[in-house]
Amino acid sequence: MKLVIGNQKAYLGYGAASSFVEGLSTVDSSNAIICPSNIYLELYKDLKIPVGGQDVCADNEGKRTGEITAVQLKELGINYCIVGHSERREYQNETSVTIGKKINQLLGQDIVPILCIGESFEDKEAGKGADVVINQLKEALENVEKDQIGKIIVAYEPVWAISNGIRPNVIPSNTEIKDIVCSIKNFLLDSYGTTVKVIYGGSVNLNNLDELNKIDENDGYLIGGASLKAEEFKKIIEICA
Ligand code: PGA
Repeated sequence: MKLVIGNQKAYLGYGAASSFVEGLSTVDSSNAIICPSNIYLELYKDLKIPVGGQDVCADNEGKRTGEITAVQLKELGINYCIVGHSERREYQNETSVTIGKKINQLLGQDIVPILCIGESFEDKEAGKGADVVINQLKEALENVEKDQIGKIIVAYEPVWAISNGIRPNVIPSNTEIKDIVCSIKNFLLDSYGTTVKVIYGGSVNLNNLDELNKIDENDGYLIGGASLKAEEFKKIIEICA
């Protein structure tokens, strides 16, 4: 069984989001989470699978126009939230310090942070993929209590493999994914004495899922484009169950 987390980014309008909810309404699965645009959290709450946020405020309340706090997510019954996605690092200039604060906000409300890390194509070409990823992990977790780290899900998402990246639909080999997933797990075990779920993200779809499912060390997927259509996402959940 693999964990399947959908990240719908800022893609669906209200009509499409409503149709998605209708299409997924019969799916009752313990191995799937869907993260819609924050404005649709309430709409998705009727689903039988858990709903997660895509981002959270780094502070707990107050003068933060446009932000959504961990307390507000929790009040809505949200138990998962993506943090540190490469698109936020790139377009919102999100730093490891901010990401660390967000993780603490989420943990403070008993919300599971889904921490995204991943190297650029240049890093990969320079043979620095694993180092970059471990460094991102180290920095993001620097101010997180050691005994809380086991609650986090880590999503390994090579930036170059995410849809619309520089080489669309080109993803790492199974060996490459396995090596980095194991490096992440070993690092967390050695540094904090804990094991966490590590999932892969980047152009996962029905065409490459069977091959990816052969990586025993990988615990699941963070899925963008292929989570936008209920039928496709449903099939992925079924295959991974
Ligand atoms: P993708 O997105 O599946 O469309 O590549 C994954 C992600 O960015 O989380």
